[in-house]
Amino acid sequence: MIYLDHHATTPIAAEVIEVMGRALADLSGNPGSVHAPGRAARAAIDQARRQVAKLVGSREREVVFTSGGTEANNLALRSAWRVQVEQGRTRIVSSTVEHPSVLNTLKALEAEGAELVWVPVSDHGALDQTVFDSIMDERVALVSLMYANNETGVIFPIEDCGRKAHEVGALVHVDAIQWVGRLPVCFADLPVDMMTLSAHKLRGPKGVGACIVRKGLDLKAVQTGGNQERGLRSGTENTAGIVGLGCAAELAQQHLVVQAAQCKALRDRFEQQVLHRIDGVRINGEGQDRLPTVTNLEFAELEGEAALLALDMRGICASSGSACASGSLEPSHVLLAMGRRPEQAHGSIRFSLGAGIDSADLDRVVDVLVEQVPQLRALLVDPLAIGS
Ligand SMILES: Cc1ncc(COP(=O)(O)O)c(C=O)c1O
Repeated sequence: MIYLDHHATTPIAAEVIEVMGRALADLSGNPGSVHAPGRAARAAIDQARRQVAKLVGSREREVVFTSGGTEANNLALRSAWRVQVEQGRTRIVSSTVEHPSVLNTLKALEAEGAELVWVPVSDHGALDQTVFDSIMDERVALVSLMYANNETGVIFPIEDCGRKAHEVGALVHVDAIQWVGRLPVCFADLPVDMMTLSAHKLRGPKGVGACIVRKGLDLKAVQTGGNQERGLRSGTENTAGIVGLGCAAELAQQHLVVQAAQCKALRDRFEQQVLHRIDGVRINGEGQDRLPTVTNLEFAELEGEAALLALDMRGICASSGSACASGSLEPSHVLLAMGRRPEQAHGSIRFSLGAGIDSADLDRVVDVLVEQVPQLRALLVDPLAIGS
């Protein structure tokens, strides 16, 4: 199998499976208990907190563990909203290409009085900074932007936007879920108040993540209970999952720079070959700073879902749109926001790379595409061509 869907989720690392297995077997105490098994679980969580803090360049106390990226985004947005609305600020600024965990959370806040302002992107997926700048004023409560887009990999100018948002007193949340573990980041140096990450995007387990919350920021928790995680995320901690995230963070830290460079070289070569050997292909996000791990290719006159099935039958896993939207035939909201027509969005395929992929794998994918794309295009024009 050639797995090219690392932006949907990454295969868990063997080292992570091992430490999680041991944690499940040996760390059964409640981390909140004072006895020895409780203290052992607490110590393991503290170690994971150090590992995550080291990866993202934050203080240990700034790391708040959650049950994944979606919960981390909810925690950041909803708790920050509660703080800001008390200050009389009700405007929330975000982009049209955010992940549904941000888009839908913000839409839910609209019912609580939030005034949402969506910043558009260009046809290459770049944030419209002129619009962003024109919106920044004292009414803005919160800015929420993704570091890099999950579908196209296009990187947003977080430092610039964060600085401008801070100048008008807004809080800043960054969804760094596709970034953390793939490219270096130093939270301490960023003009950002909350940054979210998810373990399963960096070879950790699913259902674990973190919200990095700037020291001194007094958020108003939405989840009430036993006040775990500095009161921001009540509920008995998922010790084994958190230990798995810590291990994945340490592994990422060790391999980050080399893997990013390797992925970029492989991705660039793959794109060149596809563009060279197949007509009517363009790169969604072309010319932009992009994550090295992804290419989103639009094939003219192609039904992406049919292409995905054809690839799957040949042992190649890729995706169209985002995983959360797959299963539905809705065109990707990201590509529509970039001005693509629905049929263009449907004809786009995301190939995302990660550990274990080499140039031979990608050569094979190119060969399969060269063989399959013309056949699938012919079927789209004349469905009776089946079997001919
Ligand atoms: C940019 C982005 N934000 C948030 C999420 C949600 O993370 P999780 O799957 O851990 O809930 C994802 C997952 O695809 C993502 O890519």
